[in-house]
Amino acid sequence: MPRLKFPAPPIPPAFQPKPKRPGTGNGKVKPADQAAEAGIHVVDWIDERTSLSGGLRWLMFRKVPRGTNWFYTLGSATLFAFLSQAVTGVFLAMFYDPSATHAYESVRYITNEAFLGQFVRGMHRWGSTVMVILVFLHMARTFFFGAYKYPRELNWVIGVVLLILTMTMAFTGYLLPFDQRSYWATIVGVNINGTGPLIGPYLSDFLRAGPEFGALTLSRFYSIHMLLVPGLIAALIGAHLYLVAKLGTTAPPWIEAEEDPAAELHKAEV
Ligand code: HEM
Repeated sequence: MPRLKFPAPPIPPAFQPKPKRPGTGNGKVKPADQAAEAGIHVVDWIDERTSLSGGLRWLMFRKVPRGTNWFYTLGSATLFAFLSQAVTGVFLAMFYDPSATHAYESVRYITNEAFLGQFVRGMHRWGSTVMVILVFLHMARTFFFGAYKYPRELNWVIGVVLLILTMTMAFTGYLLPFDQRSYWATIVGVNINGTGPLIGPYLSDFLRAGPEFGALTLSRFYSIHMLLVPGLIAALIGAHLYLVAKLGTTAPPWIEAEEDPAAELHKAEV
């Protein structure tokens, strides 16, 4: 847990318990109040043993610069898209069979027979496009607002890796329905990877799980798609958000820096 240099910001009034007005109620405690009280006791019990609330307040209740606008929500929107992909992906994995002989049939089953299957598959399919679009928009926002400059270079680098991993998710997921379109499109994609300098041929061998496109290729793509890359993305999002909370967000470039009173005094003295 991060060590707090300064006292945690105060809890906003909306979250603070309201004292009862004198004379209200007849002394009896309502079941709803008892339930709320029980919830508070549970949270208090955990907090007393972990001090998690300090860290949560450090993360959630932050001051944001003047001029913060809707463009600053694109990072959280990308995060939401990732979480939605994770949840829908878990349900798809309950029915999907990553074998060359059964993959197509299992996807047909999800679409036509499983309860809400078409809906969940549709969310996952469209969600992947949404996440790719959002990650590019978020990157454009941080670029045009100059948020990649000191001291946020490391967060930009983590972001670039997140961008590559998001594209890898979209690429590896495309093969999984294992129909004609996904099969041939993936062959093209893997061949394009193979033309990269130095590591290109090794990369395409790794993706194909050998020199030829075969039955193992599908398992390779599936494990990259549902284990390797989501794990990396989750860990890197953690690091990304830690840095956002630690460094704060950048003010929009058109907001002028606040005058430093010490510098003003110095100017007056000279
Ligand atoms: C899975 C992908 C990503 C997620 C979930 C994510 C999430 C976030 C969130 C929630 C914030 C804080 C709010 C905001 O400024 O929007 C943020 C800030 C930031 N992100 Fe990302 N991000 C992702 C990818 C990227 C990429 C691809 C880049 C750039 C290459 C990037 C660079 C940055 C930078 C530099 C900041 C600091 C912004 C500032 O100081 O104003 N992020 N990110």
